[in-house]
Amino acid sequence: MKILTATQTRQLDQATIQEQGITSAQLMERAAGAFVEWFFRQFDQDEAGEILLLCGPGNNGGDGLAAARMLHQAGYRPRVALLPAEKQSTDWQHNRQLLPEAVPVAEISAESLPEIPAGAVVVDALFGTGLSRPLVGLAAQLVQHLNQAQARVVAIDLPSGLFADAPQPADSPVVRARHTVAFGLPKLAFLLPQNADFVGEWQVKDIGLSERFINETATPWHYTDAAAVAGALPARPKFSHKGTFGHALLLASSRGKMGAAVLAAGACLRGGVGLLTAHVPGCGYDIFQISQPEAMCLTDAQADFISELPDLKPYQAVGMGPGLGQAEAGVAVLRQLLEAAGKPTDKRPTPLPLVIDADALNLLGAHRELLDLLPENAVLTPHPKEFERLTEPARDDYHRLDLLRDFAQKHKCLVVLKGAYTCLATPTGELHFNSTGNAGMATGGSGDVLTGLMLALRAHAQLPPFEAVRLAVYAHGRAGDVAAAATGQAGLVAGDIVRHIGPALAELTQ
Ligand code: ACO
Repeated sequence: MKILTATQTRQLDQATIQEQGITSAQLMERAAGAFVEWFFRQFDQDEAGEILLLCGPGNNGGDGLAAARMLHQAGYRPRVALLPAEKQSTDWQHNRQLLPEAVPVAEISAESLPEIPAGAVVVDALFGTGLSRPLVGLAAQLVQHLNQAQARVVAIDLPSGLFADAPQPADSPVVRARHTVAFGLPKLAFLLPQNADFVGEWQVKDIGLSERFINETATPWHYTDAAAVAGALPARPKFSHKGTFGHALLLASSRGKMGAAVLAAGACLRGGVGLLTAHVPGCGYDIFQISQPEAMCLTDAQADFISELPDLKPYQAVGMGPGLGQAEAGVAVLRQLLEAAGKPTDKRPTPLPLVIDADALNLLGAHRELLDLLPENAVLTPHPKEFERLTEPARDDYHRLDLLRDFAQKHKCLVVLKGAYTCLATPTGELHFNSTGNAGMATGGSGDVLTGLMLALRAHAQLPPFEAVRLAVYAHGRAGDVAAAATGQAGLVAGDIVRHIGPALAELTQ
């Protein structure tokens, strides 16, 4: 699913109107209809009690007026408060006229801010994607008043004061909504941690916007939903053998962190790899062999950390980093790995697929000259702090996305910035936000599981680099969601994710 800018979203409305031969008022009717349909399911009449709709002067306010009419017609008790302005949009005026007289309407002023009882349901229809400047004066006062009330706030399209695709100034107030109901496509603002308290739970309702316009419109931002990855994993051919699905090498762990290798290996095996060899420090041999009997194990000359790179010839993909520790010996191993992976061989004309995670990323951050050795399409899986070590501190989430995009383009690699809505940056400058996963996965070992699964899919001969990485991120989150349904989020441990990878991948198989 694409994510468009605010300008493109306005163009999308216009394209829909022209293409479908409808009026803007009819499109507004669809949007308001989709909104109240959601509202009916969320709040029944008794539970909702009195409902206050705050309406601005543009089409977002028009949506609010149309929704007030529909709620009244359905037997709810809406009242409307209007933010004064020099002029209102045409469709606003149309819907103002259609509002039944039985719906109380008040004009907001500094002296008469609407009364908002605790627990009231308030619909925020002040400003949507048409927001063009920070909120000041009465609008700002109203938003602050709303945020101080103990109300259940529902925003239409976008919480007022929030820009769809850009940061707002620190001193500009933004409505803190519990729910945001948008139309057609998600907005970039919904996916960034700094906006979580404003957006709340969000949904996107289909209002039949122009598919042609969406398909033809270029955007760097994408949202990986189930449709984007449906059937992405090739079915296993009947006459396949273990060599068909690749032999992966995992370089992981140090004393006290053997669990990282065990978890990553478990995920790699559940991810469908044909063969897996783990290279672990000497102290981990017994632990690993007992925990993962399906994998092979090489041990390092060092007991406590990894200091050697095995011969890479047998392998179709290599993962390095989980639980590695930051012993200086790791730098030389990483350098050798990057150099070897980038060199074509007779059997392998393209770079050896790499997945670099955790302490391998920290080593890269501490020795940035190694970044120049990254082979094309190497996968890096940092969390925000690890990413900062590779680049620089970000001013805010939007700046971090700029840094991410630049980094992936500059180094021609795939960067998976982990978090809610994990963001995958590609060498071509695209950013793909993931839709699966939950807060239960914020637990030790989750990242190791992602590395292992990623390694399996990068070793898969039939999956191109981008498809493999996007699929791994989605399936990892999906496995976490299915696991959390059984354990609850607090009770989820990384091993639960491993155990649910198989079913998650089965859902995505051709
Ligand atoms: N302070 C005060 N006023 C402001 C501020 C601010 N900080 N920022 C913007 N405004 C004003 C703008 O100047 C504008 O008024 P103007 O047109 O007189 O200049 C007005 O607020 C625009 O506000 P919005 O209601 O956010 O913008 P718009 O009228 O473009 O509507 C929309 C946004 C289409 C409703 C969008 O949020 C949405 O919900 N889209 C879903 C699809 C939909 O509902 N479509 C129905 C309408 S069809 C159509 O609009 C063509």
